[in-house]
Amino acid sequence: MDMPTSQTRFDPATAEVALRGLRAPRKTLPPHLLYDPEGCRLFDAITTLPEYYVTRTELGLLRDIGPELRARIGPGAAVVEYGAGSVTKAALLLAALEQPRAYVPLDIAAGAVAATVAAMQSRFPALALHPIVGDFQQPLALPPLPRPLLGFFPGSTIGNLDREAALRFLRTARATLGEGARFLLGVDLPKSPEILIPAYDDAAGVTAAFNLNLLHRLNREAAASFQPGHFRHRAIWNAEDSRIEMHLESQVAQSVAVAGVPIAFGAGETIHTESSYKRRPEDMIALASEAGWRSEAVWTDAGDLFSLHLLA
Ligand code: AVI
Repeated sequence: MDMPTSQTRFDPATAEVALRGLRAPRKTLPPHLLYDPEGCRLFDAITTLPEYYVTRTELGLLRDIGPELRARIGPGAAVVEYGAGSVTKAALLLAALEQPRAYVPLDIAAGAVAATVAAMQSRFPALALHPIVGDFQQPLALPPLPRPLLGFFPGSTIGNLDREAALRFLRTARATLGEGARFLLGVDLPKSPEILIPAYDDAAGVTAAFNLNLLHRLNREAAASFQPGHFRHRAIWNAEDSRIEMHLESQVAQSVAVAGVPIAFGAGETIHTESSYKRRPEDMIALASEAGWRSEAVWTDAGDLFSLHLLA
């Protein structure tokens, strides 16, 4: 039972979104609800897990392609980062480029943007910093920036968007970045479930805690009565749709109240909380070209785990 704390705050918008998903015939919750402060802390812990190959593989690949990127992008670039949660990756990219002139961290979380600016200021004192707090799923007005312009969206976060949402995102990014810009995109690759399942269901239980934290959040913010111990984390490889699905599986038949509305669960019934699409280079290129981007280069690591796409 989650006792009310000073952090307890009912949020009608969260309750409404949760109820919409939980009243559907197949229960879902939107993945953005995973990222409250505790969820962000747990996600950071996931990125250092031995099973979660994504972060370290992308960092290694970025390091490897640094000289080629430097040559392709040329001097004096401005980098616009989508999401401001990965100072290490942005710093690696900026260090690889030839005299980058500006860096724009773009995130909906003001705290993350402020922390990124502080970290970048000390590392790159000559760089002009233009933080933007906003929803990058919407077209945004950028300040006047030097050219060339390079968008950067690491971490395979695009993998958490289904085909339609990814298309919308790529089109919006084109509108925001404008004519002549390029886009460096981290994209996780399909691979054996023997690698994928542990990456999303690790031995230490960090991913399970990350998923179950959603229920604690709804108890606080949606006046819900979930008993997290009555649910368990499941990671499922859906080969047909080429995606890992995270679910919360009810261990018993039970009824849970959300903002006063009873929600019935059968034993074994699940709430689908996140999808992580794994896209082959040719599929990602086709998706990007449908959104108006041309593929300039694709790099993959030696183990064929992860890819970086340079779009123009
Ligand atoms: C943020 N995103 C790219 C992660 C992923 O791999 O899909 C989120 C995550 N969920 C569980 N582990 C990591």
